[in-house]
Amino acid sequence: MNFWFTIKKPILALAPMAGYTDSAFRLICRQIGSDVVYSEMISTDAIVFKNKKTIRMLKYSSKECPLIFQLFGNKPERFKEAVIFLNKKLKNKKNIGIDINFGCPAHKVTKTGSGAALMNELDTAYKIINAVCKNTDLPVSIKVRTKVKNTTCLEFAETVKNLPISAMMIHGRSLKQGFSGNIDFATIKKVKQILPDKIVLANGGVDSLETALKTLSATCCDGLGLARGVLGNPWLFASIRQNKKNNPPPDEIKKMIICHAELFLQDNENLINLRKHFVRYIHKQKNASALRQRLVNVENLDELKKILKDL
Ligand SMILES: Cc1cc2nc3c(=O)[nH]c(=O)nc-3n(C[C@H](O)[C@H](O)[C@H](O)COP(=O)(O)O)c2cc1C
Repeated sequence: MNFWFTIKKPILALAPMAGYTDSAFRLICRQIGSDVVYSEMISTDAIVFKNKKTIRMLKYSSKECPLIFQLFGNKPERFKEAVIFLNKKLKNKKNIGIDINFGCPAHKVTKTGSGAALMNELDTAYKIINAVCKNTDLPVSIKVRTKVKNTTCLEFAETVKNLPISAMMIHGRSLKQGFSGNIDFATIKKVKQILPDKIVLANGGVDSLETALKTLSATCCDGLGLARGVLGNPWLFASIRQNKKNNPPPDEIKKMIICHAELFLQDNENLINLRKHFVRYIHKQKNASALRQRLVNVENLDELKKILKDL
């Protein structure tokens, strides 16, 4: 039995977010209550061509596991080569999974026929999932939207339900909706009915204990994928887990920011790429605007600690 089927439900997953779900943030989320974490999307072409920056994205600590590496691309053959590479490259693969991105709306991704564009190409999508499943023993999952052009996630689920995938995360918005608007709970619920033996995670708009409970009860899913709702608020995982509202005091926020920065500096030379996380952590504080102006220029830990004295 693979790890997907051993996690207690509801499963709380950190959904993939390019530029955010790196090793440091994944570790923070796992320590505070996430059951499983997704990497940023990683290009199969870049893996196959051994792009240095991409290979660095494969670095992880076993404390993050269960960890899912999410791949994007457009060719079954490239996916095959990429997973063969991953099979060899990843150490201690016990709690590692592979996810395939069928939901990214970014033009630079869809223009090549990858991400959400693939959801509307059922034949190629099927071949890609098949190629991945056939070439790895790692659990395979997929992430889709409710609808892309003419293809709904119901049709998609029907098409792939006999493939040996373990899990599916559904962003409850269509490609047309992008990242805002109502979540289509009813459609997500129907997907779970089509895939009773697979793990189905509902994603979209979960930013509080209330929205988490509402999403779980309206979709009857096995768990949730949390994305923007946990940026600056990883405590949401603990809050859902304990079924208790949680507003961390400034001291706890400060501690979390410093812990996040220290983890990030293990793999990075400075804090420049972490500034976007810092501003999320403090955005509800009274002096958020003054703090933000200083945090967007921070480069090292000493500067960060000095700024946080005013939190
Ligand atoms: C900055 C950002 C980056 C994202 N990157 C990815 C990605 O790499 N792969 C993916 O499948 N979805 C990605 N997403 C989509 C999220 O996983 C999620 O489906 C979406 O944000 C809806 O959930 P939310 O309303 O809880 O934020 C990204 C979203 C954001 C905001």
